[in-house]
Amino acid sequence: MEKLSMNSNVVFGAGSIDALSAFNGRHVAIVTDPVISKNGIADSAAGLMGCGRSAIFDNIAPDPTLEQVAECCRFIESIKADVVVAIGGGSAIDTVKAAVLVLCGKGEKIYFAAVPTTAGTGSEVTNYTVVKDVAAGRKIPISDDRIVPDMAILDYTLTKTVPKAVTAFTGMDVITHALEAYVANGKNAVTDAYAEKALRLAFGNLHEAYLHGDEDAPRENMMMASYLAGLAFTKAGLGICHSIAHALGAAFKMPHGEANAIVLPHVIAFNGGLDVPFGADKSPSALRYAEVARIIGLPSAGTRLSVQYLVREIENLNNKLSIPKTLMQLGVNAADMKERRAGIIQSVLNDGCTPANPVEPDAGQIGRILDRVLG
Ligand SMILES: NC(=O)c1ccc[n+]([C@@H]2O[C@H](COP(=O)([O-])OP(=O)(O)OC[C@H]3O[C@@H](n4cnc5c(N)ncnc54)[C@H](O)[C@@H]3O)[C@@H](O)[C@H]2O)c1
Ligand SMILES: [Fe+2]
Repeated sequence: MEKLSMNSNVVFGAGSIDALSAFNGRHVAIVTDPVISKNGIADSAAGLMGCGRSAIFDNIAPDPTLEQVAECCRFIESIKADVVVAIGGGSAIDTVKAAVLVLCGKGEKIYFAAVPTTAGTGSEVTNYTVVKDVAAGRKIPISDDRIVPDMAILDYTLTKTVPKAVTAFTGMDVITHALEAYVANGKNAVTDAYAEKALRLAFGNLHEAYLHGDEDAPRENMMMASYLAGLAFTKAGLGICHSIAHALGAAFKMPHGEANAIVLPHVIAFNGGLDVPFGADKSPSALRYAEVARIIGLPSAGTRLSVQYLVREIENLNNKLSIPKTLMQLGVNAADMKERRAGIIQSVLNDGCTPANPVEPDAGQIGRILDRVLG
């Protein structure tokens, strides 16, 4: 087990879940989803922290809602926990983050450890959570340094049971985090270093993790990629691929990573100037995408061609991961989109991720991206 101290106290490696034994004897709230609970991970985590003083809440559903956050808060308060351990994908970790923020607001301080079981959202090291307001039909990204977990336990062996489709979606989420961070307005040399390594690892291992999910090396590399991409975007910011994915997820109830995967090629084309004939060939973001093409080993070419190669590489990867190319293939029809189009565009323009996008989009440009994403 290696100790990787960055934002939080981070441990990494097979068996690193044993680090939970540090909480032996404390009042621990374990928050997880029913799948993780059924496969025994929550019980073994409870076992590591001693008998009788921890309690499990395993009611987490994908895409946290305000109601789920309130329920999680009530649970933590009801058992008077002084430690909360989130075990699961982004949904479990994000729910606890939002709950921690509510508790902070009440002046209650609780130690927060995150154990991701997907690779992933990077949520274990970011200051960011996304909560769905069901009544308003929108996903709300919240950014606050008080919700960065105090400890992250990155035990990639926990991801070996992740189903193929979830491996594909969460892996494309990693690639989207790193790519958006690499061109985002808040980038710097340190976030670049994290993003570059995340991109090399993710492009080099995602397909293998998808094909051979029970092998160590691809799962280990994807867990590291997820962590590094999280470190990159928590400082650099994201962009309109995430803004559009948030709006589509709220409107059509699709997994976050799948939405990103479908939208990403179109956002690169937009930011990279491919929409414009002989376009913003030398625009800063086009040059950055060309750099990414070089980093992941695509054939060397001029800027515009390199951006095109990158788009094609992502489309090919999506195809190999059985991710559809369009929303139509997911069953969204033109009438559904027409009905929601104006609302989606507005929510993209208002999304907290949009200001970090390297090119400021207008409503017409977002609309054109949506038309292409629909298919
Ligand atoms: N906070 C951040 O920085 C950040 C970044 C990106 C996305 N998100 C949010 O994270 C959420 C998505 O998280 P996610 O993609 O990790 O998915 P998730 O947590 O919703 O999990 C997806 C599915 O995978 C299953 N699963 C998870 N781990 C498993 C395992 N080890 N074995 C078997 N099944 C397993 C879950 O039970 C669930 O059915 C969204 O709400 C999204 O908005 C947050
Ligand atoms: Fe994401």
